[in-house]
Amino acid sequence: MKNLLMEVENEVAVVTINRPKSLNALNSETLAEINELFTEIEKRKDIRVVILTGSGEKSFVAGADISEMVNASSQEGRIMGMLAYEAFSKIENVPQVVIAAVNGFALGGGCELAMSCDIRVAAENAKFGQPEVGLGILPGFGGTQRLPRLVGKGRAKELIFTTDMIDANEAYRIGLANKVVKQEELLDTCKEMAAKMLSKGSFAITLAKQAINVGTETDLASGLQLEANLFGLAFSTGDKKEGMTAFLEKRKADLTDF
Ligand code: CAA
Repeated sequence: MKNLLMEVENEVAVVTINRPKSLNALNSETLAEINELFTEIEKRKDIRVVILTGSGEKSFVAGADISEMVNASSQEGRIMGMLAYEAFSKIENVPQVVIAAVNGFALGGGCELAMSCDIRVAAENAKFGQPEVGLGILPGFGGTQRLPRLVGKGRAKELIFTTDMIDANEAYRIGLANKVVKQEELLDTCKEMAAKMLSKGSFAITLAKQAINVGTETDLASGLQLEANLFGLAFSTGDKKEGMTAFLEKRKADLTDF
């Protein structure tokens, strides 16, 4: 792939958006590649956690590619929005856990990409923001939908209407970042988090992810019903037998289902 790199080690894939000359801005080609790569990842049994980051030390992703958008028509704008909708929904719904390692600017489409991941770990130099209305457009890669769901309507409206850029600590304070770490510790922190998850039941984590993703977008009764159904499904797995038997036998569980 032209704009993405992937390295897989110990069941953890590190995917890097690699357009450093434009601070990893997302053009249509990169959006299509993200969709393609995550379609491959969702089928791979040798990848259980994905860490998504940007190349270089300055930027995670500085937004959608303004040089591509500047002369785009209304129809082309909509197509680009739909490409991102597909690609980011794919990230959100793959069975693997996806951790965004936010290593610098996460602006516009970059903030929106990070928000489609399950978890965001920010380096101290990370900066988050939705600058779109300053360009005469609105956030179009999920920002008007995922940001209020993460930080609340009031804060989302303030960030989108003022275009204020916030630093990693403020992102942490409002719940946009899960934690803030030194830049040089960013990938190791994400890998440590991944290792913790890998030592647990991957299939159970996938079920929990599905219950959270679907359940938080429906009414409480339907969400609780879904949770009960998935809870029942988990009882059919080898991991449930092994996890509970290991507890009772006072030994470490060897959980392998995925
Ligand atoms: N699209 C295209 N190119 C971009 C870009 C973007 N979003 N962001 C940065 N670049 C390019 C710059 O044009 C520049 O290219 P040249 O070297 O060829 O001039 C290169 O990356 C380096 O950028 P700067 O020289 O501007 O670096 P800086 O350190 O001075 O500033 C920055 C960094 C604050 C991130 C600044 O680049 C910036 O404001 N970028 C645009 C941020 C933005 O508005 N993002 C939102 C885009 S719209 C969107 O994302 C819509 C949506 O909802 C999906």
